[in-house]
Amino acid sequence: MASYETLAQFYDAVNGEPRERIRQLLDFIARYHPRAESVLELGCGTGAILAGLGSGLSLTGIDLSDEMLAHARHRCPSARLIHGDITSFSLDDTFDVVVCVFDTLNHVTTFEGWLSTFERVHEHLNVGGLFIFDVNTVGRLRELSEMAPWVHDFEGHTLIMEVELDDEPLATWDIRIFEQRGAREYVLHHERIAELGVPLGDIKRALAPQFTLLDETDTQGDAPTDESSRALFVFRVVEGRDG
Ligand SMILES: C[S@@+](CC[C@H](N)C(=O)[O-])C[C@H]1O[C@@H](n2cnc3c(N)ncnc32)[C@H](O)[C@@H]1O
Repeated sequence: MASYETLAQFYDAVNGEPRERIRQLLDFIARYHPRAESVLELGCGTGAILAGLGSGLSLTGIDLSDEMLAHARHRCPSARLIHGDITSFSLDDTFDVVVCVFDTLNHVTTFEGWLSTFERVHEHLNVGGLFIFDVNTVGRLRELSEMAPWVHDFEGHTLIMEVELDDEPLATWDIRIFEQRGAREYVLHHERIAELGVPLGDIKRALAPQFTLLDETDTQGDAPTDESSRALFVFRVVEGRDG
């Protein structure tokens, strides 16, 4: 079963509106590329980020999940939405900004896949374009694996989620949703989603030949480390194509 096939219908209710992530992205775009006109989101999911970026930008999203894209089409009808793999896509367009957030990059489970994604980003950025992405760190995935399962009730349903780290640096998110269909009737939806943790130094070294680091932050506004909860980066392409 493809990832997010059954989770897609619950995704927005579980995660809520990503207001803070959208605010950070808009701040970075305003600061580092105020004249940006086009954004490509890798792993756009249900389109929550694209919808929040607003109508002033031309919006494109790529995702591997048909179910997530179906929600995105509904949420963000103005966006161009494409079924594709972020490690191998090739579009007839280039962009001022490429974003990849909410640990979408971690979903690529080999470092070779990350390198292919970086190459694809480079290929699709205009001159002066930005690559903005976040990652779950190696330390965060380890910390999550040591925590008790997270139990969350929402809209009458119950989510139980835990992170396993039997094959470090590969983590597995084990996600169960008990969907309430009647007073005593529940349907179980179960998915296991793999995430790769990559040391931040390896990420920066891989990007260094083609990108310049403009900004980096953890969730507290400090410089991120391999123990941070999340690391967010803004890179500018050194050489890109004219759009
Ligand atoms: C955690 S969700 C994030 C969605 C969205 N970026 C957000 O912030 O709400 C990860 C998304 O990445 C997509 N994804 C994972 N691996 C992918 C790949 N190799 N190519 C394209 N999309 C992928 C999944 O289908 C899912 O929609």
